Amino acid sequence: MKCRRRSAVEGALTVFGGLVVKSLLVALSLLSLPAFAAEKKIEKMWRTKCQSCHGADGKAQTDKGKKMQMVDISTAEWQAKKSDAELKKAIKEGNKSEKDGVKKEMDAYADLSDEQLDGLIAHIRSLKK
Ligand code: HEC
Repeated sequence: MKCRRRSAVEGALTVFGGLVVKSLLVALSLLSLPAFAAEKKIEKMWRTKCQSCHGADGKAQTDKGKKMQMVDISTAEWQAKKSDAELKKAIKEGNKSEKDGVKKEMDAYADLSDEQLDGLIAHIRSLKK
């Protein structure tokens, strides 16, 4: 009898412990869900708005990137040279310049929110090789 009772208690504890662990896991995944969704949105924005020139990896090995002889923004040198504030300004103001007879053009993304800009900058930082 004693033995059986103990195992019943143990069994109950195991089930209870399992539930606690499970609910903790569920709580954790719910907590990280909004951040995950925001990151996905930024990745999508990079794909739809930026990738055609800068490339998925930032190396600018795209038709437009090559034509405009664009800078590789994945290199450690470039990443170290540019501050977040400079990147933000560049994205908001765009680019219309000419270097060695090559026209370089990027639209101004003036209507992006601060969160979107910060997200894009974080994405650019993640491209560092
Ligand atoms: C039509 C092509 C094009 C698109 C689309 C584009 N860019 Fe650019 N971007 C350029 C060009 C050209 C430059 C100028 C620097 C260079 O020659 O690489 C530039 C410069 C930049 C710079 C500054 C680089 C530096 O060295 O100071 C950042 C940051 C940047 N782009 C981010 C973005 C982001 C974020 C997006 C999407 C929201 C985007 N770009 C979309 C063409 C483009």
